Amino acid sequence: MLAYLHPLLGAVAALLAVYVGMQGLYGRMRRADAPERRGAHRRLAPIAGLLVWGAAVGGVLSVAWMRDDLDVAGSAHFWAGSAVAAAMAVGALSSSLRPGSRTQPWHGGLGAVTMLAAVLTLMMGLGLLP
Ligand code: HEM
Ligand code: HEM
Repeated sequence: MLAYLHPLLGAVAALLAVYVGMQGLYGRMRRADAPERRGAHRRLAPIAGLLVWGAAVGGVLSVAWMRDDLDVAGSAHFWAGSAVAAAMAVGALSSSLRPGSRTQPWHGGLGAVTMLAAVLTLMMGLGLLP
């Protein structure tokens, strides 16, 4: 039962990361609701980042404690998930949330790649389900 906790949290984290990324990308388009989209992105992106980190740490603990059939750091899902976690942290650091800084011009590009990596992580996670 407990081994399903990570997959559940992971799915929420990955889907929220994609949703949050969409808000960032919509916020950059010439549309009437762009300011609200940017606001939603700004509010929700830190939550998505924390959930992704929670999923990454929880996944490793889940493998170490409950999955005798899997090796820690032994799957493509592990590396993809770790890359998403690292990218969300760089996303936070490259944004205007860091005191005294502006959002970097490459923040959106990195984020777009991160969204793809989150979807791939989710798909590869399905293959590891107990
Ligand atoms: C952004 C979201 C996610 C991240 C960062 C993430 C990260 C990780 C990491 C780092 C591990 C440990 C692997 C190892 O030590 O070899 C892991 C294990 C695992 N992940 Fe994910 N994961 C995510 C989403 C998902 C999703 C959506 C699913 C399934 C639908 C999933 C299914 C699994 C399974 C089945 C394991 C083995 C542990 C267990 O059975 O609880 N993960 N994940
Ligand atoms: C899924 C990944 C992400 C994508 C696709 C993404 C995309 C974007 C885009 C396109 C913008 C507009 C930038 C511009 O106008 O040049 C933006 C702005 C911003 N992003 Fe992200 N981002 C992501 C992750 C994050 C994360 C993890 C954080 C912080 C924890 C973050 C915080 C911000 C902030 C504070 C802004 C400025 C918004 C404003 O105008 O007030 N983003 N993002």
